[in-house]
Amino acid sequence: KKKIAVMTSGGDSPGMNAVVRAVVRMAIHMGCDPYCVYEGYEGLVQGGDFIRKMAWNDVRGYLSEGGTLIGTARCMAFYERPGRLTAAKHLILNGIDALIICGGDGSLTGADKFRAEWPSLLEELVSTGQLQAKQTEPYRHLNIVGLVGSIDNDLSGTDATIGAYSALARICEMVDYIEATASSHSRAFVIEVMGRHCGWLALMAGVATGADFIFIPEKPREDNWKEEMCQIIQKHRDWGKRKTIVIIAEGALDRHGSKITPEMVKDLLADKQGLALDTRITTLGHVQRGGTAVAYDRMLATLQGVEAVKAVLEATPETETCFIAITENKIVRKPLMAAVRETKQVAKAIEAQDFDQAMSLRDTEFSD
Ligand code: F6P
Repeated sequence: KKKIAVMTSGGDSPGMNAVVRAVVRMAIHMGCDPYCVYEGYEGLVQGGDFIRKMAWNDVRGYLSEGGTLIGTARCMAFYERPGRLTAAKHLILNGIDALIICGGDGSLTGADKFRAEWPSLLEELVSTGQLQAKQTEPYRHLNIVGLVGSIDNDLSGTDATIGAYSALARICEMVDYIEATASSHSRAFVIEVMGRHCGWLALMAGVATGADFIFIPEKPREDNWKEEMCQIIQKHRDWGKRKTIVIIAEGALDRHGSKITPEMVKDLLADKQGLALDTRITTLGHVQRGGTAVAYDRMLATLQGVEAVKAVLEATPETETCFIAITENKIVRKPLMAAVRETKQVAKAIEAQDFDQAMSLRDTEFSD
C-alpha cells in the first residue's frame, strides 16, 4: 500500500484543516495509507510520535475548525542539511515516499530543495550506516506536491491561496464594526491589514468596504500622496460622510521605498491645520488569520486536497514538483518552482522600485 503523508507548514491559514481532511480521506478512498506529520518540518526532523497514521474518523469535524489542528512551526533544523538528513530517515522508516505540503512560498521552496537533495540524502544515510542499502531501495524518489496555504494571496500562478478569502471576510467584518463607532463619533480610522509584501488583502478589503483611501506596496502613491489623500477625504466629508476609513497594507511603501506607517497617516488626518479629524489606528493583527474558514476556502482546500492525492498517484520519477492552483475557476497542477521564482521577482521588483514590473507580475486583479 502506498503511504502518503500530509503536513502544514509556515503561518497557519484558514482551510488548512480542510486540506488535511481531504488528503486523508482521498488517500483512503484510493487504497493508500494516509499519515500526518505534526508540527510541520519540525515533526519530520523529530520523527516518532510526530508522524502518525490516520484513519477516516481522525479528521471528523476538521472542515469547521480554524488554524491547523496538526500544528505548524518554523523549524531551523530543517534549513540545515543534517536536519533534512534526519527527516529523510524518518520518512523511510515510516515507509513514506510521498509528501503533500500545505504552506506558503518559503515552505514550498524548502520542500522542493528536500526533493532535489533526496538521492544524495539516501546515499549519505547508507554511507554513514544509518540505514542499509536495501532499506532505501524502494524509496529512490521522493514525490512532493504543494498546496498554497496563506492569507496573503501572494503566490504567482494561482488566483487564490487557501485562507485568503477567509482573512478578507474577517477584515470586512472588522471594518464594519469599526465603521459603526467611527460614524457615531464622526471619526477617522487608519486600519492596518496583513499581507507581508503583498497588497491583495488591503486592495480587496478597500474595494469590499468602500474605504476612502488605501495603500499597497505594489502601487505606491505619487509624491503628492498627502495632498491627494486629504483632498479625497475632504471631498467625501463635504458630501456628508461621517466616517473616514483608510486601509494600509503592512508592507506599504512610498515611491522611494520608504515605509508608510499608520502613524504617519494618522498624524496627517489629525493635523489641526488640515482635516483635523479625530483619528484612531487599529492594527487588525492575527484576528485576520484565526477563526474558521469561509465556504470558498473549505471548497478550495477540499478540491485541491483531492487533486494533490491524484497528482501523487500519477507522478513518475521524471515529474517536476507541482503545486495545485486555481485559475479561471479550474483546479490545475502547475510547476512549483516557476511560481516561486515569479513570486520572488515581485518582491525584487518592489525592492528595486520597479512598480510597473511588480504590478504586471501580480495576478490580473492588480493590473488596473
Ligand atoms: O504570511 C502570513 C502572515 O500572516 C503575514 O500576513 C504576516 O506578515 C505574517 O504572516 C505574520 O507572521 P507571524 O504570525 O509570525 O507574526
